[in-house]
Amino acid sequence: MQPEILIGAPMPPAVISALEAEFTVHKLWELADKGGFFADAGKRVRGLAANALAGQIDGALMSRLPALEIVASFGVGYDNIDAAAAAERGVIVTNTPGVLDAEVADLAVGLLLATLRQLPQADRFVRDGKWPQGAFPLSPTLRGRRIGILGLGAIGKAIAHRLTAFGVAIAYHGRSRQAEVPYAYHDTLVGLAEASDVLIAIVPGTGETRHIVNAEVLAALGPEGVFINVARGSVADQAALVAALEAGTILAAGLDVYEDEPHVPEALIALPNVVLLPHVGSASVATRAAMGRLLVDNLTGWFADGRPQTPVAETRHLVKASG
Ligand code: NAP
Ligand code: 8YV
Repeated sequence: MQPEILIGAPMPPAVISALEAEFTVHKLWELADKGGFFADAGKRVRGLAANALAGQIDGALMSRLPALEIVASFGVGYDNIDAAAAAERGVIVTNTPGVLDAEVADLAVGLLLATLRQLPQADRFVRDGKWPQGAFPLSPTLRGRRIGILGLGAIGKAIAHRLTAFGVAIAYHGRSRQAEVPYAYHDTLVGLAEASDVLIAIVPGTGETRHIVNAEVLAALGPEGVFINVARGSVADQAALVAALEAGTILAAGLDVYEDEPHVPEALIALPNVVLLPHVGSASVATRAAMGRLLVDNLTGWFADGRPQTPVAETRHLVKASG
């Protein structure tokens, strides 16, 4: 008999089809009687496929799925999953690292250029028929800027690699110095911001990184500074960011992520010096398909031999020994 799994929120149709080929699937968003489901079929559910739209996957939800063995997440960041609570219950958690690094890094560089060279504003200028009345105002530049990367992990390195070709200086901050990288290390985020003209956040959303980009960091970035957030909305103190943009404490921001997605505060929307994207870092057809394949492989790997490809660190000990 095929294992029963629950899909927590809509996913690309190809991912749903691939899951339906391997498992008996329940779709949470289509269930008319969710309470009835948890009281009955939910007790047989052995796997949960989730993405950020599925909300918080916490201990309370896991308790309602007593046969749960695996939570397979559609994304690399798993801040919406309580991995410690999963580990306590012997539930393995998997994510989709690696397959999206290049896509997210491309997007981050595109967002940086769009913010500095004001590409969305220039597009609106043409569409609004303003060009015949005069030239678009001159923009700030990437030339000569020092880039600070908050979180030099897999995606941070892919961003740094791309930016190297732009001939800009690169430095980073993380909890530890990485011996093998050619970029300057700052052991504090304020120190990195002081030494940078652009700060790019690409750290996981955790308790430690919550509001790590605060008023002090933005002040250190300075009045010519640009903040790019492709990490998680929780990483920046959004109220402090709006205040800094309004006051000219920093020059501009490019944001892909927000504190309360999909809600973007009017105060941000009203600002002329921000570029706002709807969390699209990995959102190409090809990359979402690759993430979907890895999610499916993680589930099938677990049910075949207890060896999913990409378990998260907190639950890696639950991978079964080979042979
Ligand atoms: P990763 O390879 O695990 O790298 C994370 C980096 O963050 C590491 O270099 C780590 O360095 C650093 N870090 C972790 N905690 C930190 C802390 N408290 N203070 C400072 N640095 C810290 O992860 P990744 O694959 O690059 O992904 C990073 C994050 O990007 C994801 O977790 C996700 O939230 C976000 N993301 C967003 C999108 C999007 O669509 N916008 C797409 C993909 C990913 P140390 O261990 O040395 O501190
Ligand atoms: C996705 C992401 O938007 O991988 C991540 O951490 O933020 C993005 O790739 C998200 O996970 C889709 O559910």
